[in-house]
Amino acid sequence: MGMEWYDAIARRNGGYRSEAVYAIEGVSGEVVFEKELADMLSYADHVLDAGCGHGEFTLRMSTNARHIIGFDFSVEMIKIANQLLAASKVKNVQFVHATTKQPLPFTDEQFDLIYDRRGPTSILEHAHILRSGGTVFGIHSGSLDLVTRRLHENGFIDIEIREFNDAVCIYPSQVEFIRAMSDTPGHPDYSDPRHHGELQRLIAQHMDVEGKFVKQDYRFIWKAMKP
Ligand SMILES: C[S@@+](CC[C@H](N)C(=O)[O-])C[C@H]1O[C@@H](n2cnc3c(N)ncnc32)[C@H](O)[C@@H]1O
Repeated sequence: MGMEWYDAIARRNGGYRSEAVYAIEGVSGEVVFEKELADMLSYADHVLDAGCGHGEFTLRMSTNARHIIGFDFSVEMIKIANQLLAASKVKNVQFVHATTKQPLPFTDEQFDLIYDRRGPTSILEHAHILRSGGTVFGIHSGSLDLVTRRLHENGFIDIEIREFNDAVCIYPSQVEFIRAMSDTPGHPDYSDPRHHGELQRLIAQHMDVEGKFVKQDYRFIWKAMKP
C-alpha cells in the first residue's frame, strides 16, 4: 500500500491500529513471531524495525533490547511514534522518517538484527546496512514468493520460512467485520458507498451460519542470515 493509505489510517485511527472487536482461535504466527523476536533481541546490540508504524510494537520490544531504531515512510505514523516515545520512559528507541524506495539514512553494517513485522519487504534490498553474520527476521500475510525471491537475490543464507495456516479471526458482527476490513492494507474504506459491491462480496464470502464472520489469519515467518 502507498504512503497515503498509511497516513490516512494514522489520522483516522491514531496509528496502524483498528477499533474492531475480534477473537483469534488457533495458533497465530504473530504470537510465535513476537516470542522468538523477544529472545533474539537480547543477543543484538543494534536493531532496526523496518516499517515500524506508530511505534507501539517497537516500544513494547524495547524492554528486551539494547537499542532499536524504527523507521517508516508515513510522516503521520512517525509523528505518533515520537509522541508515544516522549510520553514513555523508554530511552533506547529512536524513530526515523525514511523509505526503502530510496537510500536509507544508515551506515554499512550498522545493524545486528533487522526485523520486519508486516512492513516493507523491500528492506531486503538494503542488505549492506546489516553486519556480516546478522539476521533478518520478518512476518507477513502475503507475498511469500516475493520475500523468498528477495532473500535469494540479495545473497542471504540459512533461509527459513514457516507458514501458519491454523488460526482464524472471528468477528462477532458485520459492523466489526467491516471495520476490520476497512483498516486492513489493500482494502478501501467500506463506509464509502462506492465500495458497496465489493463489500457485499466479502460479506457473502466470510459470514458463517451463526451470523459471525470468520477469516483465516494466514501468516508466514521468515528468517535468514547475511553471510
Ligand atoms: C502493516 S503496517 C505494520 C506496522 C508495524 N510494523 C506493526 O507491526 O504495527 C506496515 C508499515 O510499513 C510502512 N511502510 C510500508 N512501505 C514502506 C516503505 N517502502 N518504506 C518505509 N515504510 C514503509 C507503512 O507506513 C506502515 O506503517
